[in-house]
Amino acid sequence: MDSMIRDIQLAPQGQMKIDWVAQHMPILNQLRQDFEKRKPLAGKRVVICLHLEAKTAYLALTMQLAGAEVAVCGSNPLSTQDDVVAALVANGVKAFAWYGATDAEYKMHLNRALDFQPDILIDDGGDLVATLHAERPEQARQIIGGAEETTTGILRLRALAKEGRLLFPMMAVNDAQMKYLFDNRYGTGQSTWDAIMRTTNLVVAGKVVVVAGYGWCGKGVAARAKGLGARVVVTEIDPIKANEALMDGFEVMPMVEAAKIGDIYITVTGNRDIIRREHYEVIKDKAILSNAGHFDVEVNKNDLRAMATSVKKARNNVEEYTFADGRRVYLLGEGRLVNLAAGDGHPAEVMDLTFALQAMSLEYVFTHRDTLEPKVYSVPEDIDRKVAQFRLAALGVSMDQLTEEQIHYLSSWQE
Ligand SMILES: NC(=O)c1ccc[n+]([C@@H]2O[C@H](COP(=O)([O-])OP(=O)(O)OC[C@H]3O[C@@H](n4cnc5c(N)ncnc54)[C@H](O)[C@@H]3O)[C@@H](O)[C@H]2O)c1
Repeated sequence: MDSMIRDIQLAPQGQMKIDWVAQHMPILNQLRQDFEKRKPLAGKRVVICLHLEAKTAYLALTMQLAGAEVAVCGSNPLSTQDDVVAALVANGVKAFAWYGATDAEYKMHLNRALDFQPDILIDDGGDLVATLHAERPEQARQIIGGAEETTTGILRLRALAKEGRLLFPMMAVNDAQMKYLFDNRYGTGQSTWDAIMRTTNLVVAGKVVVVAGYGWCGKGVAARAKGLGARVVVTEIDPIKANEALMDGFEVMPMVEAAKIGDIYITVTGNRDIIRREHYEVIKDKAILSNAGHFDVEVNKNDLRAMATSVKKARNNVEEYTFADGRRVYLLGEGRLVNLAAGDGHPAEVMDLTFALQAMSLEYVFTHRDTLEPKVYSVPEDIDRKVAQFRLAALGVSMDQLTEEQIHYLSSWQE
């Protein structure tokens, strides 16, 4: 089976990027030593559908070291880095992806990766699993199981399971504490601002930043905006999250009000149409629109196109839409998750945690294949804690241990 990539000549540049992240992923490095000796996935086929940048590549190579044959495809057409994919192919991984794939090419890549006949898979956002269930149910019945990376993918998996149609077990990696507390919050928090700043080269301090959604990602994006000196406004639909945002020191208001004052917008809700026609009608001139949620449906692009009298490229990854009254808005990374479409994604040290969970979850699915049912499973607590302990050890940080008296005290009802 031949890979489908842009240019194998780019491999040395991609390898350099992989070598850099490899130095900053100590937990994965520890797992690699163990996997190399034990080969827990010997002879199995793994398909990985994730954002194809250097950290993902290192995970793919780790699965290879565990004994698996590995194929990859992208989980978003704008997050694939062609040089990294070329390096993977040079390392013997099959790859079906290129930057800027059209919708049809993106679907073709997913299907070509599935032609690789995986036993186990990693998905990000649910497109691989959805394709298996909608178009390839016979093949889906043969899959041992897999692991899902993100909030949106888990919502889709739960919807499938609720209809009684999920055909194999999936581990909800996103819902592990060592994932969402760090990847969603600190990873998205930092990488979203890295991408916005490098893409626009504009100042953040003193501006009004509007963060839509105060979930794990939104909290990180808002906290970093505050640190950069912005005045932060949060929009929410959940009264508890809205209260949390208020207590964290942010203003809360509906988007239609925020649209009148915001300079920079980040949607991160996992929902659709968060910024739409009614908001464009009142939005400030030169507002910057970006999305960090999984799909490019949070900033409504159809309404933007319908209202714009002209559209032009203003900078790399920046489209300028001009309305009839002369107001302009700038859309970053086509409204796709900005930290990957216009950046390099989360820092390597953060993805070290997530991908250690992914690697251990895949081994768990494989070793428990005879007992797991076609359901969405939480990552077992001991895996979560092991990743936490590995990280502390890697950082050289030690902590206290419970004494016998404390264990007894915490587990009894008498004084
Ligand atoms: N960019 C990245 O690298 C990255 C990383 C992790 C997750 N994600 C994605 O980001 C999205 C959010 O993930 P999360 O873990 O923060 O989810 P979450 O469920 O913790 O938070 C989402 C929040 O959005 C709010 N919300 C829903 N509809 C809304 C609306 N119409 N207006 C305002 N708020 C609304 C919800 O009440 C909730 O508080 C998902 O699509 C997830 O897959 C992206």
